[in-house]
Amino acid sequence: MTEELPASKLGTKEHWDMVYERETKEYEETGDEGEIWFGEGAVDKMVDWTYQYIPPFADGSGPTVMECGCGNGTLLLSILYPTKPKYRRSVPRHSPRHFTGIDYSDLSIELSSKVEGLRRRRWERRIRSDERRKEAGEELGVDSDSDSEEESDGEDDDDENDEQVDAGTSSHTKDETTNNPPGVTWFASDLLTSTLQTLHSQSSSVPLDGWDLVLDKGTYDAIALSQEPVQSGPESSRGKLPSAVYPERVVGLVKPGGFFLITSCNFTEDEIKTRFIREGLVGRSSSTVKHPSFSFGGKTGSTVCTVAFRRV
Ligand SMILES: C[S@@+](CC[C@H](N)C(=O)[O-])C[C@H]1O[C@@H](n2cnc3c(N)ncnc32)[C@H](O)[C@@H]1O
Repeated sequence: MTEELPASKLGTKEHWDMVYERETKEYEETGDEGEIWFGEGAVDKMVDWTYQYIPPFADGSGPTVMECGCGNGTLLLSILYPTKPKYRRSVPRHSPRHFTGIDYSDLSIELSSKVEGLRRRRWERRIRSDERRKEAGEELGVDSDSDSEEESDGEDDDDENDEQVDAGTSSHTKDETTNNPPGVTWFASDLLTSTLQTLHSQSSSVPLDGWDLVLDKGTYDAIALSQEPVQSGPESSRGKLPSAVYPERVVGLVKPGGFFLITSCNFTEDEIKTRFIREGLVGRSSSTVKHPSFSFGGKTGSTVCTVAFRRV
């Protein structure tokens, strides 16, 4: 028997619309991209996992990646435009055309495409800077797994400062939307009621056989904080709690042979496995990130865990 979390406003769409309205305003005024759920460490862990198990294909044909509940888009964009020298210098990189971010809040989608413009410009500057330094015969920095890895690229810091200044000007937003149309497909949909087919009818870029990698960082945690039974979508899910329906929907979004990678703070690794392992989706490899004082509407002092599943 799995224990349900108490209902919380974090399980409602109204809450997330409010969050992204505030974050968009903040972004436009200051260039702040918004909340990094579970911190940069959790993002790094998911980026590392992806580059280890689903590296860019040499011919640029794949893989396809989708984030469930993409929020401000920062996880997806950290994979697409990696900052760690060892990933950003591995050419070719993942293709923006194969990346999709889905969230039920329209405002999250709007924010994600703006953040994409910013990240892409920063990425292009970094690549130009790498090229200049290479031409000048400079060392491009020693790749390592240490936290200070990014600091080896001093010029990047200047680029980021430039962006901060840009972000404070009114032309910033205009430039992004006019000169940086999004390459990632971002769109709004409720993942509790959507299937691959309904998502495909919303965007033809949705692969009908599913994605090679489906990501979740904090979305299942949020969904499990709603106690409102699901009312629409596939018949078999109606009347069930969101926490039970979401794993059923997710398995159908992963391509056979593909992966589902989830980071949660409200459930332990064992609880995540109990809830997600089902016919067709098996636990593959896992790792746990200790994060002793994190609280997210449910349990206080939770640990963050990252678990990977493979669709068979
Ligand atoms: C804790 S935030 C995490 C955002 C993002 N994954 C990140 O790590 O920054 C949870 C996200 O799930 C989205 N969400 C919650 N329920 C959803 C649903 N039924 N369908 C689609 N998105 C949902 C929220 O709008 C919110 O953006």
